[in-house]
Parts: sequence; structure tokens; C-alpha cells
Amino acid sequence: MSDHQPVLLHETLAALAVKPGGRYVDATYGRGGHARAILERLDERGRLLVMDRDPQAIAAARCNHADDARVTIVKDAFANLTAVVEAADWCGRVDGLLLDIGVSSPQLEQPERGFSFQSDGPLDMRMDPDSGQSAADWLAHADVVEIGNVLRRFGEERSYKRISRAIVAARDHQAITTTAQLADIVSKVITVRESHRHPATRVFQALRIFINDELSQLETALKQSGKLLAPGGRLCVISFHSLEDRIVKRFMRRHSLVDPIWRGLPDIPESALPLFERPHTAVRAGAEEIEHNPRSRSAVLRVAERRA
Ligand SMILES: C[S@@+](CC[C@H](N)C(=O)[O-])C[C@H]1O[C@@H](n2cnc3c(N)ncnc32)[C@H](O)[C@@H]1O
Repeated sequence: MSDHQPVLLHETLAALAVKPGGRYVDATYGRGGHARAILERLDERGRLLVMDRDPQAIAAARCNHADDARVTIVKDAFANLTAVVEAADWCGRVDGLLLDIGVSSPQLEQPERGFSFQSDGPLDMRMDPDSGQSAADWLAHADVVEIGNVLRRFGEERSYKRISRAIVAARDHQAITTTAQLADIVSKVITVRESHRHPATRVFQALRIFINDELSQLETALKQSGKLLAPGGRLCVISFHSLEDRIVKRFMRRHSLVDPIWRGLPDIPESALPLFERPHTAVRAGAEEIEHNPRSRSAVLRVAERRA
């Protein structure tokens, strides 16, 4: 199994503008690629709080930073960011917050996690296997309309009706408990093939996003970010598909504009001023990074700076 190669690493470090004595939060530790690079730029006064909802990521963090007093490790979902940052007494004092969302390579590559159609495993897909229901459990009970809605909304799958009907018909004969079973059901329905894309790609993406409540996790974390950051603090978000990127782009735009009712007026009260400065331009991986790490092809980094 390969380790996780951090994407847009140099660009993210430049965007975070790490101060040696600053306080940083990496809310998506994964295997710590970004976290390690942040730590290299911190001196003994600097602090890094890392989070992940995946117990394996947290075990890796504990192992990697056992002797580093600058690091605090918390297993939690980033929708609970405020509570975690409050517990550290860092509200309004965070110099940089990183969300590198989506799945890590180890999650994708371990068949037993059930994220991938490339190898057979239990149809689980939970980033935190200790909470919520697995994809198999949900597919066993959801009705055809619910399944179709998830495939359409989170996978932008055009054949959502045919696939959801096929899933419900198949489970009447045999429970769908493995990734190979699901990939097979979808492959039989999708007869027109796209080059370089498995026919079940969108279905797996949709189920993963739904099972892990990924879009509302992101929206909730973004809403909390403003009051956690120090003036001048940076919010850096790396996303991997357009559904996520749209949320990030809209959030940063909306919160870098003066409240519309005050726009154009001479004396704008503090409460109507935007949270962020105008967002930086989106950053994508260059050809060299894409060649070494094909996963970076779809990555987009967006950065916003808390108004001073
Ligand atoms: C793309 S990986 C991060 C990789 C990391 N930057 C590195 O360099 O190793 C995404 C990580 O975020 C975690 N994650 C995704 N959504 C999360 C959420 N809502 N709360 C906490 N962790 C989450 C996943 O479990 C995964 O480990």
C-alpha cells in the first residue's frame, strides 16, 4: 500500500505563510504530509493541532508525533471544529486552518475500508468506522427514490434512475454487501463506456459523500472558520471535485463582500464588514505534480485571509 502523497504542498505552505511561533490547525491529518511540512516551519513556540475522523489517521499521528510537545491530536469530525479549538483555548487566535478534504490514499487502497471498486471488500465507506451506518446497511433499507436522489445529487450520475432500480432489484435476490457486487450491478446497467473511467466511479463517489455527510461537514466547518482565525489568519481548503469546490468558492466570495444593504455607503459598521479579504485566485496542480501524483489532477486550493 502506498502512503498518502500530499497535494499542492508548496502552494499550501505558501498560502498558509507559516509563522515560526504561530498556531495552526490541520483538520484533515490523513498521513500527515501537510502537517509534517508545517511542523518543519514552526519553532519551539509554534503549535499544531491536528484532527481526523479516521481512527487509522489518528493512530498514525500519535505514532509520528509522540515526542513532539508542539502537537495536539484530536479524533473528531471537522464539523466540530469550534469545540476542538475552544478546548485548546485558541478561538480567534488560529494563524492558519487547513482542510484537505476527501479521502486519503490509504483509505482508498485498503479493500477492507470499502471505498474502492478496484478491489473487493466489504461495502463500508465510513471514514470513521465507529460511527454512522455503512454503505451496505444504508443500501439494504433505502428506497429506490432515496438511492436515485443520492446518485444524482452527489454523483451527478445521469443514469441514476436505472442504477437505483437495478440496485433494488438485485438486493431482493441477495444482500449487497461487497464493493465488487455493487460495481458489477452498475457495470451491467451502464453499457456506454467512458474512456479512463470505471462505470461505477460516480456511484461510489455519491455513496461515499452521502455516507460521510461530506458536503454538510464542509459547510459547517467553513461557517465556523471565521471566528476561529486570528486577524490575518489564513483559511486554506483543498477540494477534489466540483461539488465541494463550488461550496468553498461561494463561501469565500460571499464572506469577502460587504453586507449588500451597506454597499456603497460611507460609514459601514464593523458588523457589516466581511470576514475575509478578497479571496486569492484558485490554485491547481502543475503538469509536473500531476505526472508524479495523478490524484492531484482534480485538486483545487482556495485561500481566504481573515480581515485584520
Ligand atoms: C485527502 S486526506 C488528507 C491528507 C493529508 N493532508 C496528508 O497530507 O496526508 C483527507 C483526510 O481527511 C479526513 N476527513 C475527511 N472528512 C473529514 C471530516 N469531516 N472530519 C475529519 N476528518 C475528515 C479523512 O479521514 C482523510 O484522512
